[in-house]
Amino acid sequence: MSANQSPPSIQGKSMKKTAARGFRRIQVAMGATLLLSSATGVYLLATDASLWLLAVSHAVGLVIIVAVDIVLGLYNLASSKGVYLPSIAAGVLGFALQGGDVFTAPQYNMTVPYFARYLFGLGAFDLLLALQAGVIVAGLLGRPHAKYLSRRMNRSQRLDYTRRGFVKAAAGLAALVGAGVLVGSIKLPAPASVAASTTTGTVQGSVANVNNLKVGTPVYFEYPTGYPNALIKNSDGSLTALSILCTHVCCECSYDASSSYFYCPCHGSVFDNNGNVVRGPASTNLPTIELNVDSAGNIFPTGVSNPGPCQA
Ligand code: FES
Repeated sequence: MSANQSPPSIQGKSMKKTAARGFRRIQVAMGATLLLSSATGVYLLATDASLWLLAVSHAVGLVIIVAVDIVLGLYNLASSKGVYLPSIAAGVLGFALQGGDVFTAPQYNMTVPYFARYLFGLGAFDLLLALQAGVIVAGLLGRPHAKYLSRRMNRSQRLDYTRRGFVKAAAGLAALVGAGVLVGSIKLPAPASVAASTTTGTVQGSVANVNNLKVGTPVYFEYPTGYPNALIKNSDGSLTALSILCTHVCCECSYDASSSYFYCPCHGSVFDNNGNVVRGPASTNLPTIELNVDSAGNIFPTGVSNPGPCQA
């Protein structure tokens, strides 16, 4: 050993200190990013009613992701080394689940490109994805420090950075989020008012009979199967049938007889009783259902004249 070289034990200590400092900085970055991500998730949950009205399973999944991010964020800031891998796993899972949301579009009667345009057009959604990606990047940058430190820690302080540890953490978190999504997927019965007024006519294929309709009181029917529509008898005796899936992101509108408007509960779009947009964000009129009335007054839907984005 030359005179100006430090003994190996001193070198080792200084390298350990450097690694510990580097790892601490990474944990602060991961913790702050996870907390920012959870705040963004809370903002989305609080401001996008379609999550709760249209996609409850997504809302529940996001609630769990937010909760996990808060816990991991705080533990990272408290320098708990055991949350290093679970934090990266949470980032990967959050990014994959949020990004993968676009592929659930057909479940909500939309095409994937249409739903993707909506989702990626939401600033908060993009920020959420960017923050989850930030957690992954910070975690990967910290890997050399984690690897070095894990070799020099005693068993009780074990810092796991292995692929196996990552898979275990990811599987545990996926199971947690999956359980939440499953609970959120349980279908609740339709509101009594809608269920009671959803009709099928007495003649096969018909949805109602003209003689049983009351002016301004809609009856609801599905056409094609799974697509809810409202049939309205106007004061001049004419009939209007409209899809009630809002052309913004396909939430179900409700009809208000006093104003003769359809209101969307998700982001506030309003349509008149001809399906025309009165107020956005929807920019496309409600699709019209073509009708055929036989000599006995039975009403048959025969087609959709201007299918919108919710007729995927
Ligand atoms: S779904 Fe957004 S306003 Fe109707």
